[in-house]
Amino acid sequence: MEKRGMWSSRLTFILAAIGSAVGLGNAWRFPGLAAKHGGGTFLVVYLLAMLLMGIPLLMMEIAIARKFRRGAIESMRGIGKKWEPVGWAATSNAFVIVCYYAVVFAWVILMFINSWQFANMTGDNEAASGLFLQLTQTTGAIEGTNIPGIVLVCLLISWGLIFYCIRNGASSVGKVVKFTVFAPVVLLLIMAVKGCTMPGAMEGIKMLFVPDISAFSDPSLWVDAIGQVFYSLSIMMAIMFAYGSYVGNDADIAADAMIIAFSDMAVSVLSGIVMFSTMGGTGMLGEITASGISTAFFVYPTAIVNLTGNGVVNAIFGAIFYLMLITLAIDSAFSIVEGISAAIADKFHLKPKTVTIAVCAICGIISLVFITEAGLAWLDIVDNWTNQINLILIGVLECIAIGWTFSLRKVLGEVNKNAKRFKMPYWWFASSINLSRRCCSLVCSSGT
Ligand code: PHE
Repeated sequence: MEKRGMWSSRLTFILAAIGSAVGLGNAWRFPGLAAKHGGGTFLVVYLLAMLLMGIPLLMMEIAIARKFRRGAIESMRGIGKKWEPVGWAATSNAFVIVCYYAVVFAWVILMFINSWQFANMTGDNEAASGLFLQLTQTTGAIEGTNIPGIVLVCLLISWGLIFYCIRNGASSVGKVVKFTVFAPVVLLLIMAVKGCTMPGAMEGIKMLFVPDISAFSDPSLWVDAIGQVFYSLSIMMAIMFAYGSYVGNDADIAADAMIIAFSDMAVSVLSGIVMFSTMGGTGMLGEITASGISTAFFVYPTAIVNLTGNGVVNAIFGAIFYLMLITLAIDSAFSIVEGISAAIADKFHLKPKTVTIAVCAICGIISLVFITEAGLAWLDIVDNWTNQINLILIGVLECIAIGWTFSLRKVLGEVNKNAKRFKMPYWWFASSINLSRRCCSLVCSSGT
């Protein structure tokens, strides 16, 4: 078997993990859920879910993968033979997710290429919100198999870029993330300045940060917050197992996981500020929807053409917005392919590069379904199914596996092996794993 690739430095690992965590979920799912659940109310519950479940589970996945030096399937098998199916569940969920994530990435590329069209649409809401439908010819209904040529080209570009970034595993990923992690933050900051300096922006900012007390009573608030924490940290999808398996023995997992989680949360809040201030400034606050897709492709274009009275300036902001989404999405998209390839290559002792090519080819073919006229409708169905209940269910199983079969102290020992700045305390780790197990089972049994 080939020698396992390793991260070239601690910083490379942290950047790659942040790159995976920070993705389209931060840019539109987080603001959408905040709008649905009373702004500040969602922020509070999200922070709690991050501290109580997200951070300990992130540490757990990285630590276990480092211990066994294997992807998700073999690492779960290392805990106990009967837990191998949990690794398979995470890997197959990732397999489904990447098929449509690559398509959303392709759509973002398509909108970026076409953002010059905003220059001729100043104030024309109908044209702006219809641009995406006109380009993709998707109808929202489950019928039609036509594929527009330009969308197919964008999908090929999307898969080409994904493959290019992970062609040599950890070593090629390490080079790309030095750019893809910082670029979206710079672009988001530019957009935040524009958004916050518009009259009416403060109303949006208030809506984002001030909690609406009545929203606390909605039980779906907790399901949405936990699901978003898992999704956003890229846990329960085989990714952090793969990335953790390339981590050196001297890594300080406890501190690194804290840095990854809080950077991810910071970008979510920054995206929230961009979205709410821009929508406040263009008088469209009521239009932020829980569905990120419609916010990004229908609502945001409308905001773009109302940003200023100058079409060229609007088009430039449109291009910045979609370029920001491209740089956000790419490192998440390739991380998920890496998660699947590492799991399969380790399981069947195959050459990682061969598996990566096979995964890109198979997922590439499946992803064609999502660029047909019926694509958006399919995407909606699959997105709902994979991103919440599946992640939470896999979460319960991982916690049961660790909490019951394997010793919690052993895992914590692995997490704190080289802890210098921050040591994860036992009470926090143990209560989080137990709480996650209980909460997640409750959520699953309530059959959301
Ligand atoms: N954390 C990613 C995001 O927020 C989730 C993700 C990672 C999704 C990788 C798909 C692939 O977008």
